[in-house]
Amino acid sequence: MATVTFPRPFVWGTATAAHQVEGGNWNNDWWAWEHDPTSPCQEPSGDACDAWHRWPADLDLLAQLGFNAYRFSLEWSRIEPEDGEFSHASLEHYRGMCLGCRERGLEPIVTFHHFTTPRWVAARGGWEDPATADRFGRFCARAARHLGDVLGRACTLNEPNIVATMGYLYGLFPPGVRDFDRRRRVNDVFIAGHRRAVGAIKAAAPAVPTGLTLAMSDYQAVDGGEAMRDAYRRDMEDVFLEAARGDDYVGVQCYSRTRFGADGMLGPEDGVRLTQMGYEFWPEALAATIRRVPEVAGPVPMLVTENGIGTDDDAERIEYVTRALRGVRACLDDGLDVRGYVYWSLLDNFEWIFGYRPTFGLVAVDRTTQVRTPKPSARWLGEIARTGTLRD
Ligand code: BGC
Repeated sequence: MATVTFPRPFVWGTATAAHQVEGGNWNNDWWAWEHDPTSPCQEPSGDACDAWHRWPADLDLLAQLGFNAYRFSLEWSRIEPEDGEFSHASLEHYRGMCLGCRERGLEPIVTFHHFTTPRWVAARGGWEDPATADRFGRFCARAARHLGDVLGRACTLNEPNIVATMGYLYGLFPPGVRDFDRRRRVNDVFIAGHRRAVGAIKAAAPAVPTGLTLAMSDYQAVDGGEAMRDAYRRDMEDVFLEAARGDDYVGVQCYSRTRFGADGMLGPEDGVRLTQMGYEFWPEALAATIRRVPEVAGPVPMLVTENGIGTDDDAERIEYVTRALRGVRACLDDGLDVRGYVYWSLLDNFEWIFGYRPTFGLVAVDRTTQVRTPKPSARWLGEIARTGTLRD
């Protein structure tokens, strides 16, 4: 394998999300779900990684490792704890984080909604209620007015397709619904919410590149599975990619592939290694999804806003990212407009229904002391970020 280089400038970052790292986010639908004995959650998020307090040291570490970007999310329930009631102190907290990134040479890539929704929004119908698109737009307007001059890039919604599918089709995320039609309605409200958010953010901060991020998979058809694959992919990806046409960028998030046969979704193929999440170890999926974005969304810059692996074998993480990055390089060679690569995640953190068992982090976190310990992959990827070079 040859040494490969990446363009300069190129975004090299790591990502986290508020609920997965901050701790104490008791005022959102996920906290309620974690404490609902009928939910599939393994454990509550609790203090998470205490990043609400420890973010300066986390940013120091990220910058020392060699990265130039940090993707994190705003916790809506902290900023707007009740309908129309905004917390200046929380807005200032996130402003401090954006400035803290800039002081350390890190671009703040800020997500306005990463899975969690304030309890008061959930109580009013959550993402099934069309008014939630307006509620979200109002929140984005307020946050963007406070942060617009310090944002690097803005992500409106993180993986709305996952929130809709897991929450309203499979019943695994709040509110635990299993209903195909309701899931479709939620897709529509998310798309309306995205458009409101783009309008609000661009009004306050016209120069800040704004887009959504999508959970994508390399959807493969085997033995006549094309129709099943296409139908599933339409509600999962295509409706959102079509809604992203004309945006400043699309955030590509990919972890594995998904196979379909004539009767529907197939499980992992025999003999293919599995990750802690039960996904196939399939790093080549990233390039396949990057290639698909412009086919549906039209020509648009792309940023890999998440890619990574849950594993307790750090050498396997390096193997995974190496193969994924070679795929990104091949996409660049073919003229695809990829602006950067953001690894999920900086820290071992709260992995939603699975709790703290899956470990995606470049940095381990002691669950009692909160002490951070960079894994070899952190230094390895930081070196790639610093040099723009993936060595043989
Ligand atoms: C989500 C993250 C999650 C990661 C790993 C993505 O779907 O945006 O919140 O932790 O995948 O499962």
